[in-house]
Amino acid sequence: MEGSWNSVSIILLSLSFLVFNSTFLGAYGAPSGHLCRQDQRDALLELKNGFQQSFRPFRDLRWSTTYWKKEGDCCSWDGITCDSKSGEVIGLDLGVNSLEGEINSSSSLFKLHNLRALNLAYNDFKSSFLSIQYTTFTELTLLNLSHSNFSGKIPVELLQLTKLVSLDLSSNSLSAEKSFLDNLFRNLTTLKELSLGSVDISSEIPENITNLSYLKSLYLDDCNLIGGFPSRVLLIPTIKSLSLSGNNKMEGPLPKFHGNNSLEVLDLSSTSFSGNIPNSIGNLKHLNVLKLDYCNFSGLIPSSLGNLSGLTFVSLSGNNFVGEIPSSFGSLKQLTTLIVESNKLSGEFPLQLLNLTKLSSLSLAYNQFTSTLPPNMSSLSNLENFDARQNSFVGYIPFTLFTIPSLRVIYLSDNQLNGTLGFSNMSSPSHLNNSSLSGLYLSNNRITGQVPSWLWSLPNLITVDLSNNSFSGFDGFTKDISTSKISVLDLRSNDFQGPLFVPRWPITDLLASGNNFSGEIPISICDMTSLDILDVGNNNLNGSVPECLRKLMERSISVLDLGDNHLGGNLPDIFMNASNMRSLNVGHNNFVGKLPRSLIGCSSLEVLNVEHNGLNDTFPFWLHLLKKLQVLVLRSNEFHGSLQHHFQGHFWFTQLRIIDISHNDFTGTLASDFFIYWSAMSSKGDRPKWKYIGGISYYQDSIVLTNKGVELEYTRIFTILTTIDFSGNRLHGKIPESVGLLKDLIVLNLSRNSFTGNIPSSLASLTQLESLDLSHNKLSGQIPSALRDLTTLSFIKFSHNKLIGPIPQSTQFQTQSASSFEENIGLCGPPLDKNCGGVNTQPSQQPETGEEEEEGVLNWTAAAIGLAPGVIFGITIGHIVITLRRLQWLMKISGVTKPRCQGSR
Ligand SMILES: *[C@@H]1O[C@H](CO)[C@@H](O)[C@H](O)[C@H]1NC(C)=O
Ligand SMILES: *[C@@H]1O[C@H](CO)[C@@H](O)[C@H](O)[C@H]1NC(C)=O
Ligand SMILES: *[C@@H]1O[C@H](CO)[C@@H](O)[C@H](O)[C@H]1NC(C)=O
Ligand SMILES: *[C@@H]1O[C@H](CO)[C@@H](O)[C@H](O)[C@H]1NC(C)=O
Ligand SMILES: *[C@@H]1O[C@H](CO)[C@@H](O)[C@H](O)[C@H]1NC(C)=O
Ligand SMILES: *[C@@H]1O[C@H](CO)[C@@H](O)[C@H](O)[C@H]1NC(C)=O
Ligand SMILES: *[C@@H]1O[C@H](CO)[C@@H](O)[C@H](O)[C@H]1NC(C)=O
Repeated sequence: MEGSWNSVSIILLSLSFLVFNSTFLGAYGAPSGHLCRQDQRDALLELKNGFQQSFRPFRDLRWSTTYWKKEGDCCSWDGITCDSKSGEVIGLDLGVNSLEGEINSSSSLFKLHNLRALNLAYNDFKSSFLSIQYTTFTELTLLNLSHSNFSGKIPVELLQLTKLVSLDLSSNSLSAEKSFLDNLFRNLTTLKELSLGSVDISSEIPENITNLSYLKSLYLDDCNLIGGFPSRVLLIPTIKSLSLSGNNKMEGPLPKFHGNNSLEVLDLSSTSFSGNIPNSIGNLKHLNVLKLDYCNFSGLIPSSLGNLSGLTFVSLSGNNFVGEIPSSFGSLKQLTTLIVESNKLSGEFPLQLLNLTKLSSLSLAYNQFTSTLPPNMSSLSNLENFDARQNSFVGYIPFTLFTIPSLRVIYLSDNQLNGTLGFSNMSSPSHLNNSSLSGLYLSNNRITGQVPSWLWSLPNLITVDLSNNSFSGFDGFTKDISTSKISVLDLRSNDFQGPLFVPRWPITDLLASGNNFSGEIPISICDMTSLDILDVGNNNLNGSVPECLRKLMERSISVLDLGDNHLGGNLPDIFMNASNMRSLNVGHNNFVGKLPRSLIGCSSLEVLNVEHNGLNDTFPFWLHLLKKLQVLVLRSNEFHGSLQHHFQGHFWFTQLRIIDISHNDFTGTLASDFFIYWSAMSSKGDRPKWKYIGGISYYQDSIVLTNKGVELEYTRIFTILTTIDFSGNRLHGKIPESVGLLKDLIVLNLSRNSFTGNIPSSLASLTQLESLDLSHNKLSGQIPSALRDLTTLSFIKFSHNKLIGPIPQSTQFQTQSASSFEENIGLCGPPLDKNCGGVNTQPSQQPETGEEEEEGVLNWTAAAIGLAPGVIFGITIGHIVITLRRLQWLMKISGVTKPRCQGSR
């Protein structure tokens, strides 16, 4: 008995409700052995029976209501406090109990009229509404309903509980009337703790908040608060904790702070507070935690902050701070976290920080620091995370950094560091054996020389990014290492040469493209059966693809990039069980023969790129069985035969975003319904899932497509671009009207074929189209005037056809260069010099086009719907999100010219 009473009082202490506990519960709730009232016990048992209690692994319940039994004194049950005289239940603490079930207005909870403290936090009340029945607890001083899955509007009646000293409604799905705060500050003036985090309040904070003159902690995070914050709140002398984070429409300056304050925690992160941090912040002498990240602060970091010797956590990221880190920071001896990333700070590495032996996280990233890194970094003897990426640090990387035993992650990418990592005098330094380093990111620097062998022996190292440097080789000692834990190794874009580096330990990602590795692909690579990504593209590898790679296919490999090498021979039939493969690139090699039919086993394949080889095959219709295929590039091979399909639409390529079969030898006509089969089943598909490590996208497929007349490397662009490139083949007949169904098409290139007939007017429904190339065909008739409405078009090329009549009058057409329309029979009007003679320049007067063709599109739409019953609206070949920077970029590369003045008649 005694024991459970103690636990009750410990629990009440943990509610951080000391005054309440000692005055009320201390006086009335003494352990006198008083039996509880039967009606109250029945109410409790009924309450308990309304809930399920789920026991989740890894989650400690504080106690269990299973110990509530019909027999016995309910005053001795876990979580219950009784009044010692009347035996009435005055405290109910069911917090952190994994209870599940609703609490509605008829709940027996509300029979416990005399409750003074009620804690239901961290349970799951299944989106229950807050009943006005809570107002029956007229004596309530503590109400804690946080993290309990309550929903709906907070009833304003709740504010009748005027004795509340502590109110916590945070982290539910609650909202409040606009007048809620005003009423709250009017009625609940004795509050000491107020926590409304995640309650959707959507109003300003009214000035009468300063009515709460006892306030100690105020948590209003993520409440959608707007307007100016009444800065006098920050001057309430009793207030210890204030958090407004996540209210990104709440603004205000910081006030001039006085000496009379108790502030320990100030969190304004992700708000729109702005202005300078006043020097008077040096008056907050109790401050431990200062979070001002991602606001609009500017100016210098005041040196008075260095006077706040109790500071443990300072985060100033994502503002516009300039200047240096004040030297006074050298006296913040308690500081464990200093994060100032993404500002405009400059100057040398802040040497005063080397004094801060408790510092465990230091981020200077994304600033403008310029200097060498200090040689004695190891005085930061408790450092765990060091992030200095994207600055202008120069010189060599101090070896002492690697000797800090606690250090787990080093980010130094995107600087101008040089020298070697050699430390040749340290070839097997024993003091590295207790290194905690798990991630080393050095990409985009100027580091030269060999990759030192001690790197492989760091016992906890998992991720190493050395990409975009000038490393030229590996310390010979590497050969003997077979126990490293490194599983992600990024060697891309360095000066490595000689045989491909193949680690002897199991690795998941080997990225080695953009080097000068030469010779054949070593057979030993086939032993790396846990490989997920193998990228050895853009090297000088030759020979054939070893059959034994089949072993990798059958395991986990998802990305294989052998592109841009001198590999040759037939592609081996090794893909039958490559069910994890998402991206296969063998482009720009010398492969011959047919596409291996075993590719049909790559059921997860999203990207297949075989461009620029000597492959000789018919169109691989069988690939339509790969339901995730988004990108198919057969460009520049010896593919041949007809594109005419023999399937019904339902079974066609369902996710294809990009098809580039240009520069092959495809022949035949495209039947009028051709594009139905390319579009009918398409819908918004999943984006490819890329690998993210430490917030950096780690592998990006890339692919070169000709768009807007220039070859560009599109990186991951196939999620946002839809392209059909059939150019440079021997296709003939009409361009099918059904092309108008491909509503999301951005690039259409049918040039250099032998298409005849009119330009289909259905092209006018391709409202996303940016690039249209029909040049070098035998197209005749007029350019459909409706095309002038394609406002997204920035590149148009109709030259070398048999077109006649006026060029449509619209900015898109007029800004093309004349060469886009040259070599036709009778095109006229700007941008050509040839005048139309006045009659036909008005687009409204254009004849023909018309009804027949418009009808055609409608019919095809109907046909497509008929073929694919599930797809009624939005018949698309793919989902497009318009590309970043699209406009500027288009202007740049399409060389927009000014419309010419129309010549006089
Ligand atoms: C509410 O209860 C939870 C869980 O016990 C606790 O973490 C939180 O601090 C309490 N809220 C207040 C304002 O005491
Ligand atoms: C509360 O604030 C209002 C408006 O600011 C004021 O009129 C009222 O007197 C205050 N009440 C108390 C108890 O401070
Ligand atoms: C730090 O505090 C001392 C007195 O406690 C004061 O003289 C000094 O000006 C303060 N420094 C700053 C930078 O505010
Ligand atoms: C480092 O701390 C010592 C006292 O522990 C102090 O005298 C010195 O000025 C500090 N150095 C810097 C650069 O702040
Ligand atoms: C490294 O950079 C520093 C500063 O830019 C320069 O003085 C030094 O010569 C460079 N060292 C090497 C080895 O390139
Ligand atoms: C393609 O292969 C066939 C035999 O399968 C052969 O007759 C033809 O000449 C080849 N084409 C080229 C361009 O090599
Ligand atoms: C269309 O394809 C042809 C032949 O491949 C190429 O020369 C042209 O530049 C492409 N047009 C555009 C707009 O990319």
